[in-house]
Amino acid sequence: MKSNSNTDSKIQRRQFTKWVSLSSLSLALPISFTSCNFENSQKIDTTTELSDLKNVFDLEKLSSKVMGEDALLYLNGGADDLKTVKINSDAYQKIQIRARRLIDVRNISTNVDLFGQNLDNPIVLSPVGFQGFFHPDGEIATAKASVAKKHQMIVSSVSNSSVTEIANQSQAKLWFQLYPTPDRKITKLLLDRAEKAGCKVCVLTVDTPVVGNRERSGTTLMKLVQTGKLKMGNFEGILPDGMGFSDPGMTWDMIDWLKSNCDMKIVVKGIVTKEDAALARARGVDGIIVSNHGGRQLESNRATIDCLPEIVAEIKNGIPVLIDGGIRRGTDIFKALALGATAVCIGRPFCWGLGALGQQGVEMVLDILKAELIRDMQLAGTTSIEKISRNHVLKN
Ligand SMILES: Cc1cc2nc3c(=O)[nH]c(=O)nc-3n(C[C@H](O)[C@H](O)[C@H](O)COP(=O)(O)O)c2cc1C
Repeated sequence: MKSNSNTDSKIQRRQFTKWVSLSSLSLALPISFTSCNFENSQKIDTTTELSDLKNVFDLEKLSSKVMGEDALLYLNGGADDLKTVKINSDAYQKIQIRARRLIDVRNISTNVDLFGQNLDNPIVLSPVGFQGFFHPDGEIATAKASVAKKHQMIVSSVSNSSVTEIANQSQAKLWFQLYPTPDRKITKLLLDRAEKAGCKVCVLTVDTPVVGNRERSGTTLMKLVQTGKLKMGNFEGILPDGMGFSDPGMTWDMIDWLKSNCDMKIVVKGIVTKEDAALARARGVDGIIVSNHGGRQLESNRATIDCLPEIVAEIKNGIPVLIDGGIRRGTDIFKALALGATAVCIGRPFCWGLGALGQQGVEMVLDILKAELIRDMQLAGTTSIEKISRNHVLKN
């Protein structure tokens, strides 16, 4: 294991670079974030733009003007031909809402109880790595926005700021997403740091035994890491030569190992079948996130919202089932909740806000989605999250 010296950090950066170039994670953001994001942001009249930002797609458009081309490729990219990226969103259009009438909808509650916490709303920020590519304030800006707007944030293992820095600078109550390395000693160090930073939930990502086939890669991530402009946050100083962030040898035994090596609740992210939902539950996990990594891993052509019903049926209210992938509107959130999700997670949308306007942009995205959800609940005649039921949607 490495000490935290400058030399060692350089070696780790080289190794990281090697791993990145072997995997296709290197599709990351080519243009130096300092030159691309901020030179360009000077060029746009943000005052005019702000008044036009009505929905998350407007933030997406703004991010495409502000961020560099390769940063956008990293953020918006996916596996193979991006069919799963697209179908995640498209599948929501095939579900119709059955609105109920003449219900007093003056008071709406969006609260949900999740893993021993009472959350203000069911819109959680998915773990997204390397947020320093999108904006120099990276995860710190996202965390501050999540605190200001009362949303739960999940910090990625591959965040640029460490979970400790993020917690200290934002005062956020974070959940920690885990990519285990093949060396459990390193994983244990990550878990200890996350717990020390106050994390009560560990989200184990299980859809990444290897990195997906993301063909549109750039070199900037490598350059930024090589030159030390982009830190590896949690892994800084502890990653041995040549080791990557995924463990292709990981099996269900990992759940037992996690349970005996930390006190956090264990949530598995990346479940897409009822068979694996049953196995996860049998292992005693505390929750499941139905996810295909936003279409960045296996090009499966199956939307997560299409996976949700069989998993909910298998779990039968036993443990919380969350979902992410393609959620862009309040109506998408409503549909997922109606089909049995306890809460939803969003990935790219908050990053569009971050890339476009930093913390303010993330806050705008969160405001927009929550306002849309509340309005949709009112229009559908549902006054609380638990009142959104299977009868409120039609799905084939
Ligand atoms: C740029 C980017 C980086 C991501 N990094 C991670 C990560 O570090 N860990 C992880 O479990 N999932 C990661 N994901 C997947 C997200 O957590 C989430 O599953 C996905 O973004 C949801 O789909 P959506 O972007 O359509 O909302 C990443 C997604 C994106 C777009």
